[in-house]
Amino acid sequence: MLILIEQLGIGAADLAAAFLFLYGLHRMSSPVTAPSGIFVAGIGMAVAVLASFLYAFGVDTAARSNLPMNIGLAVVALVLGGGAAWWSGRKVAMTAMPQMVAIYNGMGGGAAGAIAAVELFGNKAQGETEVIVTLLGALIGAVSLSGSLIAWAKLDGVINKPVRVKGQQAFNALVILVTVAVGAYIVVASADKAALVLAMPTTIYLFFGCALALGILMTLPIGGADMPVVISIFNAFTGLAVGLEGYVLQNPALMIAGMVVGAAGMLLTLLMAKAMNRSVSNVVFTNFGEVAKHKQGKIKGSLKPIQPGDAGIAMRYAASVIIVPGYGLAVSQGQGKLFEFVKLLQAGGVSVKFAIHPVAGRMPGQMDVLLAEAGVPYDLIVQLEDINDQFASTDVALVIGANDVVNPAARTDKSSAIYGMPILNADYAKKVFVIKRGEGKGYAGIVNALFYADNCDMVYGDAQTVLVKMIEAVRGLNLPAVA
Ligand code: TAP
Repeated sequence: MLILIEQLGIGAADLAAAFLFLYGLHRMSSPVTAPSGIFVAGIGMAVAVLASFLYAFGVDTAARSNLPMNIGLAVVALVLGGGAAWWSGRKVAMTAMPQMVAIYNGMGGGAAGAIAAVELFGNKAQGETEVIVTLLGALIGAVSLSGSLIAWAKLDGVINKPVRVKGQQAFNALVILVTVAVGAYIVVASADKAALVLAMPTTIYLFFGCALALGILMTLPIGGADMPVVISIFNAFTGLAVGLEGYVLQNPALMIAGMVVGAAGMLLTLLMAKAMNRSVSNVVFTNFGEVAKHKQGKIKGSLKPIQPGDAGIAMRYAASVIIVPGYGLAVSQGQGKLFEFVKLLQAGGVSVKFAIHPVAGRMPGQMDVLLAEAGVPYDLIVQLEDINDQFASTDVALVIGANDVVNPAARTDKSSAIYGMPILNADYAKKVFVIKRGEGKGYAGIVNALFYADNCDMVYGDAQTVLVKMIEAVRGLNLPAVA
């Protein structure tokens, strides 16, 4: 009877959780439905977690005495983990979101690795296939854990330089070979239970040690600018590891959640690489963070400063304005003031749109989230491929804290690190205003010829402060609203 409750309950809960994950993911495809999509997927996760307590009904009589203790430990882990995630999720600044995603992703990989460790140390994996799948999950999960922690350290500035030594790739290849050899030994030894008991613990420690070292060695040489892509790759790894361990535990909810995360992570990685016009192997094996070293030719023209008020008033008298938000807008948290300024322009009859580059900011969708946070209606937000043709017929392009995503070198300079990356055609607008604090470079570390162009003026200052001054100047005109 108890077994029946366990099997029926878990089966139904897994089915419900799987449906909620997929439906939630489907809703995340549009910014309008994304918040409810996250909520739905969260409910799915809660259902899956609660259903795992039903396994208590199926434990054999010998293990039953440990049940209260184990359930107690699980509840404590849930309260501690859930509490820490709730607290940090509420507190984290938008600009620190990539670091947070890195940590959470590492935890997922670590959890998959921990399941594998329990299976391997407890001799629970039965048969060659199960041992191989467990080891694969252990390897991928451990690489994802240590790699994600290094990615976090890089994004948080704890490690602020790529660590590269001569012969690093050959050494990494050697570590991979040793890991595979140790794994193969475990598979062979697991067929012989006597050898298993004697030789396995040390071998399993060695296997996990190599896998963790591999994650660190793979991530250390990659530049900070590429960390979001790396996190996305590790995200795909974590999903795969969780899916494999779900297979070992014969837990459908884990299998489905793992595969969904794995596939989504892989697609996101490919999309990000495409938006930067780079291959995934180029991201992992090339030193993009050091592109500043390439010699740029002398840039023609000069930087022409303009006062915020003058630029604001010029836009109030324009017919059309396209706004290009970038990383600096997120840093200044100026999105609220930006929308206030946009509403003033619209009240004066100016047509305003936002142009979004797929890798503006430091993580996918960061600009969409920032603008949504400020309440900007979705129909004003237009993606690169749909707006690029409109710049040439636009009066003003207002670039706010963006740099690389509007750098014409991507079109013209074959030696540039960003050559070939699709950019927003802000330079084609009749007039360009750029808000930034000074002569700081973008993430790619290269000078931007747009800032020196004849049709471009620089509005220096923190984005939020500049926008406040623009608002004051336009309000000071006391112009009537256009019906
Ligand atoms: P960036 O090229 O990084 O430029 C940001 C600019 O903002 C800087 O030049 C900086 O100049 C300015 N800035 C910083 N703080 C500011 C503030 N408080 N107020 C005003 N301006 C401020 O940004 P982007 O154009 O958004 O490009 C994103 C870059 O990140 C690309 O190279 C992209 O490939 C890379 N990347 C993005 C992603 C994702 S998924 N988004 C992933 C990997 C890599 P000052 O210092 O002079 O102010």
